[in-house]
Amino acid sequence: MAGEPTDPAAEHLRSSQPREPVGEADVVALARCHRLCLPETASSRAGLSVLEGLYRALIRDRDAEVVWRPGDGAEPHLGAFAAGTVALRETELAVRRSLSAVDFARLALRVAAMPMHVLARRRWEQVIPSAGIGYVLTLGSATAVTGHGRGARGRDVLADLEAWFVARGARESWVDTEQSNGRAIEFYRRGGYVEVSRDYGQVLLKKPLPSG
Ligand SMILES: CC(C)(COP(=O)(O)OP(=O)(O)OC[C@H]1O[C@@H](n2cnc3c(N)ncnc32)[C@H](O)[C@@H]1OP(=O)(O)O)[C@@H](O)C(=O)NCCC(=O)NCCS
Repeated sequence: MAGEPTDPAAEHLRSSQPREPVGEADVVALARCHRLCLPETASSRAGLSVLEGLYRALIRDRDAEVVWRPGDGAEPHLGAFAAGTVALRETELAVRRSLSAVDFARLALRVAAMPMHVLARRRWEQVIPSAGIGYVLTLGSATAVTGHGRGARGRDVLADLEAWFVARGARESWVDTEQSNGRAIEFYRRGGYVEVSRDYGQVLLKKPLPSG
């Protein structure tokens, strides 16, 4: 109705165009983009092949979505990405099972060296609903991080992912990030997320989504 405030997420859902499926060349660039934006994550430290394997598994998973907007021309890795799921526990299990034994061992070693995230997730087991939500697994914008290029903004890929959550019937979007990552926390707050919990140096946030 004229004069009524519009919900940005609902508006994005109505106006969003179908996206190109993420192909093999994209996976290679996306893994490099992830490592550039998030060099300190266990998966980045485990190496590009692990990151590529994780994204291939997410692309195959019907309960997960990978949003990828490559950078221009010769530098597709200077893009922006977001990935999320509407079935957090099942997706985590499926992704782990899909890795080769070597890649799994590499990742497990890195996770063991950086256990705070795992400890926080364990504490939040009871807090995070097991259904009816979307969970943002990862997100980054190379332009935001490097200051170079004219790639997509973080909020563009987050809006795409939230629209997918809504289309899959999710009523809330959840995310966790490092307590030390003030820029990401501010970014999520600007996007309507509110803090749910802080544990082991991690912050858990959520926001309500419009109905589809
Ligand atoms: C999280 C992250 C995407 C937030 O990005 P951000 O730039 O702070 O947030 P926004 O996308 O809202 O952009 C804010 C401002 O930065 C500038 N900017 C960011 N990306 C830009 C781009 N691609 N092109 C031009 N300007 C850009 C703009 O000035 C924008 O202001 P505007 O509102 O006037 O357009 C980014 O910090 C990042 O990739 N960090 C590393 C990965 C990470 O920490 N991920 C979170 C883990 S869950």
